[in-house]
Amino acid sequence: MENTLKVHDKEFKLYITAEKIQQQIFSMGEKINQRFANTDPLFLAILNGSFMFASDLMKQVCIPSEISFVKLASYQGTQSTGQVKTLVGLDINIQNRTVIILEDIVDTGKTLSEFLPVLKSFQPKEILIASLLFKPAALKHDIKVDYSCFEVPNDFLVGYGLDYDGHGRNLPSIYQLVQ
Ligand code: IMP
Ligand code: MG
Repeated sequence: MENTLKVHDKEFKLYITAEKIQQQIFSMGEKINQRFANTDPLFLAILNGSFMFASDLMKQVCIPSEISFVKLASYQGTQSTGQVKTLVGLDINIQNRTVIILEDIVDTGKTLSEFLPVLKSFQPKEILIASLLFKPAALKHDIKVDYSCFEVPNDFLVGYGLDYDGHGRNLPSIYQLVQ
């Protein structure tokens, strides 16, 4: 595993190893299996960023459940644009369901603060948020993260689903921008 690498035109250094990520996902899976054993939850993964997290977490989930996907986007380069676009919407009835949102990272909380009211309008029983990463210092909206694998500082990260201008999502570890 390389300690520094170039993604697109910037330098990044190793921040969270693939092994550590898998350990944390395993323990999140155990908590979810216990708490939602009898609720047949719907996991709703937010694309593109959560695809690796959703895939690895779902391999640990052993309770009756479903998964679906929506595609939202708010970032351009290393900055949030402050505008959230729905590129692929909800295609499943969530009325009276327990919905567990799967996110790669909760940063400002803008994406979820815009998406949650849309979801709530379909009258689910409850909505929970499971995010691989959480940047508490960047949070600007009233969002409660129910489960997160890692709390991270307000730095730009790539890898394991997170991108820098579309690049780096394929990396099995997470890397931090070298300023
Ligand atoms: P928020 O709306 O500000 O909470 O940002 C949520 C989305 O922004 C995430 O789902 C990511 O796709 C993207 N994002 C936030 N921080 C980072 C980062 O450090 N690296 C890459 N993408 C990020
Ligand atoms: Mg992104």
